[in-house]
Amino acid sequence: MRRNIWIDTDPGIDDAIAIAAAFASTDRLKICGISTVAGNQTIDIVTDNALWLTELLGGKEVSVVRGAEHPLIRRPHPVGRVHGEHGLGYVIPDKPARTLTSAQGAAFLYQAIRDLPGEEKMTLVPIGPLTNIALLLGTYPKIRQKIDQIVLMGGSAREGNITATAEYNIWADPEAAEMVFQSGVPIVMCGLDVTMKCLLTMEEILKLKKAGPIQQQFARMLEFYFDSTAYRGKGSVAMHDSVPFLYLLQEEKFSGEHHVMHVSCTEDSCRGMTCVCDGAYTYSQTEKPQNVYVLKDVDAAWFTQELMERLMRY
Ligand code: RIB
Ligand code: CA
Repeated sequence: MRRNIWIDTDPGIDDAIAIAAAFASTDRLKICGISTVAGNQTIDIVTDNALWLTELLGGKEVSVVRGAEHPLIRRPHPVGRVHGEHGLGYVIPDKPARTLTSAQGAAFLYQAIRDLPGEEKMTLVPIGPLTNIALLLGTYPKIRQKIDQIVLMGGSAREGNITATAEYNIWADPEAAEMVFQSGVPIVMCGLDVTMKCLLTMEEILKLKKAGPIQQQFARMLEFYFDSTAYRGKGSVAMHDSVPFLYLLQEEKFSGEHHVMHVSCTEDSCRGMTCVCDGAYTYSQTEKPQNVYVLKDVDAAWFTQELMERLMRY
């Protein structure tokens, strides 16, 4: 049976590639809907991008709902230097022809999960800041019974990327992340420890460029990513947001550890840190439930091959 998934996203270049991988995997993944969240770009931009992506990828019947305009407490922190002023690198998307399904993101997501038939459950796949997921779980706590797990891109057991200590999605809304990590819902954390091993090189991008018109759009996004301050001169780019989807397709290609997980919600250089809270991360001395399965390793060659295989299906 196909797995029900809900994508929460801030497209965003790597979000776009991940959504393309998901739409190329509907034989295994039933995409119940997409909610947008302010992150890589403003809520207006990421929402238009999500609508445009569903048209580009042949999924315009999939619900797209507009989510949180800003984090629970912090200020939005778009990263145009990495994703471009329109959020999709060198691709300037047309105004989407289709319209939003709803502008009430968390409420719509609650109804979508509540209304799943019988014993069916939802797998939540957040690949941006966790604001919407925190609002969902905080506003409708009983909905946890219909969520089988949250497979999220975020966090790090070691160094960060937006700061020396924190990964962007967690750093952008640390209070939301702490609420989600403490919700009691089983969590798989696809953090930088594993996502920085999940790479595409210029070789793959040139292959995309020679393929069809849709792959050429992916290539134009990725070329910007390559040129960005995050990856300039590094020879490869991390496909962070594709990791949760490929994990759901073949989890045996990944390995990890169960840990107690808290998020640092300070204002200092530890903001968004997920590695040393509640005692030393790896040597936690507490009796708290190990609520998070932290991915640490992957068959990196398989990841690149599998992601490309799906991107080439269009
Ligand atoms: O740290 C990587 C994450 O931050 C990804 O989700 C990327 O899209 C950015 O949002
Ligand atoms: Ca993202």
